[in-house]
Amino acid sequence: MALPTIQTSRLSLRPLAEHNRDDIIDLDSDPKVVKYVHSGRPLTREEAIQDHQERLSACRQIPGLGYWAGYLDDTFIGWAALSPLQSNGGTFHAQKAEIGYRILPRFWRRGYAKEMARELLRYGFEELGLEAVIGQTMAINEASRATMKACGMQHVRTLYVEFEDPIPGSEDGEVEYAITREEWLELQLHSK
Ligand SMILES: CC(C)(COP(=O)(O)OP(=O)(O)OC[C@H]1O[C@@H](n2cnc3c(N)ncnc32)[C@H](O)[C@@H]1OP(=O)(O)O)[C@@H](O)C(=O)NCCC(=O)NCCS
Repeated sequence: MALPTIQTSRLSLRPLAEHNRDDIIDLDSDPKVVKYVHSGRPLTREEAIQDHQERLSACRQIPGLGYWAGYLDDTFIGWAALSPLQSNGGTFHAQKAEIGYRILPRFWRRGYAKEMARELLRYGFEELGLEAVIGQTMAINEASRATMKACGMQHVRTLYVEFEDPIPGSEDGEVEYAITREEWLELQLHSK
């Protein structure tokens, strides 16, 4: 199943494609964007290209799951994902996915991350029949936490992971947020 193009009120979410390579290089080379991801430093062009290829291959694992490039008219603003989750045994969950997003700083704080994430939750629960969606971020990443919270996701646990080259703030841990299909349906009832 090819990923569909998804429309939000202001954005068009188009399946991430090979031609987004330069968009991803722009995102991954921006220090503000990578402050709390990867190793906390801008990626080189080669690293960003590899990152892009890994995302494209993630889009081929579970039908309907993957990465979308967000466009305001025809301008790329960033990406959002419902990506496949691997269990400890290495197999992919068919009914559980991980939400994620990354936006160019000039488009921050206009509600775009929330808009993309809310629509991907709707798509995941209504159209893919997912059972749950989780999201992880560094505890100090307030913007990412607020985005998950604004979508009705709740903090479920904090993980403390040892890194070889830790990003400042990683001592506060990694937080996991989650929402089940039942919780999402309940929220829809109350938002009508
Ligand atoms: C996280 C990110 C996608 C948020 O994008 P955004 O479009 O600015 O977010 P929105 O405008 O939709 O805001 C969503 C919520 O986060 C809050 N928020 C946004 N930036 C914030 C910040 N710097 N500090 C605190 N809250 C913030 C908003 O107020 C809003 O919450 P509300 O609805 O309760 O008011 C963006 O900051 C980003 O790309 N960061 C770098 C990449 C990254 O860290 N991704 C997540 C990795 S797990």
